[in-house]
Amino acid sequence: MAGRAAMLVNVGTVIMTVLTLASLVGGFGVNWGNIASHPLNPNIVVQMLKDNKINKVKLFDADSWTMNALAGTGMEVMVGIPNNLLESLADDYDNAKDWVKENVTQYIRKGGVDIKYVAVGNEPFLSAYNGSFLKTTFPALKNIHKALKEAGHTNIMKATIPQNAEVYQSANDKPSEGDFRKDVKQTMLDIVNFFHENDLPFTVNIYPFLSLYLNEHFPVEFAFLDGDGQTMTDKGKNYDNVFDANYDTLVYALKKAGIHDMKIIVGEVGWPTDGHKYASPKLAEKFYAGLMKRLAKDGGTPTRPERLEVYLFGFLDEDMKSILPGPFERHWGIFRYDGTPKFMLDFTGQGRQMVPVAAKGVQYLEKQWCVVNKDTVNLDEVGPDLDYACYHGDCTAMEAGSTCSKLTKVQNISYAFNMYFQIQDQDVRACDFKGAAMITKVNASVGSCLFPVQIVSGSDDFRINFVFGRFVVFGLVLLGLLTVI
Ligand SMILES: *[C@@H]1O[C@H](CO)[C@@H](O)[C@H](O)[C@H]1NC(C)=O
Ligand SMILES: *[C@@H]1O[C@H](CO)[C@@H](O)[C@H](O)[C@H]1NC(C)=O
Ligand SMILES: *[C@@H]1O[C@H](CO)[C@@H](O)[C@H](O)[C@H]1NC(C)=O
Ligand SMILES: *[C@@H]1O[C@H](CO)[C@@H](O)[C@H](O)[C@H]1NC(C)=O
Repeated sequence: MAGRAAMLVNVGTVIMTVLTLASLVGGFGVNWGNIASHPLNPNIVVQMLKDNKINKVKLFDADSWTMNALAGTGMEVMVGIPNNLLESLADDYDNAKDWVKENVTQYIRKGGVDIKYVAVGNEPFLSAYNGSFLKTTFPALKNIHKALKEAGHTNIMKATIPQNAEVYQSANDKPSEGDFRKDVKQTMLDIVNFFHENDLPFTVNIYPFLSLYLNEHFPVEFAFLDGDGQTMTDKGKNYDNVFDANYDTLVYALKKAGIHDMKIIVGEVGWPTDGHKYASPKLAEKFYAGLMKRLAKDGGTPTRPERLEVYLFGFLDEDMKSILPGPFERHWGIFRYDGTPKFMLDFTGQGRQMVPVAAKGVQYLEKQWCVVNKDTVNLDEVGPDLDYACYHGDCTAMEAGSTCSKLTKVQNISYAFNMYFQIQDQDVRACDFKGAAMITKVNASVGSCLFPVQIVSGSDDFRINFVFGRFVVFGLVLLGLLTVI
């Protein structure tokens, strides 16, 4: 009996622990982007989220396949509206109504999708966009808010605009001198006043990695949240990392606009693992360890002590992202393209050495690689082929400071050929290059430089099923007809 009682106590402890963990992980979600040549099947991704006890997710659109995979999971979702839709939503209220009907109302049902936020645009005021979305973003937001209200959704969800932290700045890097960037200031003031009147949250993406990437004199430790950074004092508050300083710069910019209590969501924060000397699994692990520990504590930043609400960026690598910001853009995932984890991360913030749970049931293409054919290649002639392969494939891991930056010339070319071959679904015609290339069954990886084998694309998978399904239906109909005849 005693043993039984002890066991019950243990079960109780386990249940308590599980409950505590569940509440610990409640404060964060992940960004799930899909700018990939071979996106994972959404059902596999949803299972990965569950296996890692992640229950909030932020999307960049409202793709129906993804939304349907999320239906009935109880996962909290922020759906997104891409920047290219802003103009039509701003121009015509009917378009906003249609968007809400098709991409929100349709999913609000029992066993549907638990939509908490609608993200209108994505970093629309980025200075790299030269003001392209400056005039349309706010009107689009107002139309979406109005349409959500009219449809009766505003009691369960709120519209917001994920902004890059670039929309505000501060003199002397002091948070207390924070204010909105001059060229967007009036629009930002109009937006935050509207948010204030309608109780909408401010969403901001904060990137300590970029502080380091953009400024070679930036103190490295200040990019991380493990408390080893040199401390900066501002208005009696101590800052030992740039994340807090940046977040509080926004708090002060809002204060300057007369707004003291606006809810702030960190829409994106994370660390890339390749494509630059500071983008490595080791530093990503360090960054996330500090961040997760902070998120597990109830504490916020020096000016906002309440719990933070953040979305990690990102869940998976995306090999088709624009590399205009830098080659690291395609390596933001906590997981690789195929759902394998890259580094240790304890999502509960207890700092345990834990490997995140990998994707299950991923189907790979054949175990084969495309490499230089040493017998036929003329190394002086492959230049244009290499450029072509890297233009269509992803060669960002070859950049200085990356995992594949130390290859020999021949390995370099093989890497490029293989990336092209894999992105083309191992089509034999994609491993020719006028006879300079050949297919091999020998793993071509070199040390820590991974020569990947692509997965069966989630969307191919879908198409095959879809086409197959249609044939089956067609077959049944035919059979039915024949039977009747
Ligand atoms: C709903 O969202 C999808 C995916 O983002 C988009 O392609 C579609 O145009 C939207 N529907 C409407 C009516 O705007
Ligand atoms: C913004 O302007 C710069 C310089 O004039 C130009 O190179 C760039 O292509 C423009 N970007 C966009 C998105 O219009
Ligand atoms: C391999 O390619 C990278 C990226 O294009 C280049 O920087 C490097 O010099 C090349 N290495 C050799 C040995 O040619
Ligand atoms: C190829 O080798 C690398 C490095 O040893 C390994 O990580 C990878 O899993 C291998 N690929 C396959 C398909 O076996």
